[in-house]
Amino acid sequence: MHHSKQLLAHISSPVILGSVLLVVVGSGIAWGYVTMTRIEALGGDIVALRAELASTTALLGANIEETHSSLSSALSAEKESLEAKLGDFEENVESISNTVGTLEKLSRTDPELLQKYSKVFFLNEHYAPERLVAIPQESVYSETRPEKIHAAVFPHLEDLFDGAMRDGVELYVKSAFRSFEEQRSLKGQYSVTYGAGTANQFSADQGYSEHQLGTTVDFITTGTGGALPGFDKTAAYEWLLLNAYRFGFILSYPVNNGYYIFEPWHWRFVGEELADELHDSGRHFYELDQREIDEYLISIFD
Ligand code: DAL
Ligand code: ZN
Repeated sequence: MHHSKQLLAHISSPVILGSVLLVVVGSGIAWGYVTMTRIEALGGDIVALRAELASTTALLGANIEETHSSLSSALSAEKESLEAKLGDFEENVESISNTVGTLEKLSRTDPELLQKYSKVFFLNEHYAPERLVAIPQESVYSETRPEKIHAAVFPHLEDLFDGAMRDGVELYVKSAFRSFEEQRSLKGQYSVTYGAGTANQFSADQGYSEHQLGTTVDFITTGTGGALPGFDKTAAYEWLLLNAYRFGFILSYPVNNGYYIFEPWHWRFVGEELADELHDSGRHFYELDQREIDEYLISIFD
């Protein structure tokens, strides 16, 4: 008891107390120091990790951008090439359908309409235009006899009559469509009246007349006493010479043609395009090769 009192007294001496305190404070400081160092190291780690994260993010971003731009340029190149192929394809389809359309139109156009007749080609007795329409009687010279014309030529003839009327020119149809039989009968009458030799100079045999096509018209005007000869001295003829081509009509038998006498009254519809070409080049229908004429068949009623 005494010893422990002594020891206590000994221990509780200021020196010992001071040492203990020193140890406690010292280890506190040391612990604090270690902890601080740890925290500092952790802070460093965090900074490094942040930097790594940032650079990884930047790298990823760059990668994504690069991938995106290379993908989109590949895609747009692919799209362009597909569009070009589609364009070619559409062009092909269009050109094929144009060709088909042209062939179809040509197949629907009567090839006889631009053939040379007049002692050159023969139309058989069964040939008749697809459809004939009556010419209004006020435009026909005869007050009783009706005259017919190819239905598709009729609008062009109407335009021609309108044009003549606007210019104050008096014009009538003396004769238009004539069937094989009508031509035979007419030629027969002429042959009886004038003799076969003379009749051959101004009248076609049946099957050789442009009138059987339904596209041809003999015009007449007042002042010739109802006769065709003398038509070339009339204002109506002058007007036709200057204007008929604009409506698709041409003079089949000009002066010095190789087939018949000069027939200023006889006008054939060949379409505006061909009539225009003949007018511009100063040539006549029968001077052209059939091959050249045939190129205009497709546009005859345009
Ligand atoms: N007057 C012409 C030639 C014909 O008869 O067709
Ligand atoms: Zn005629």
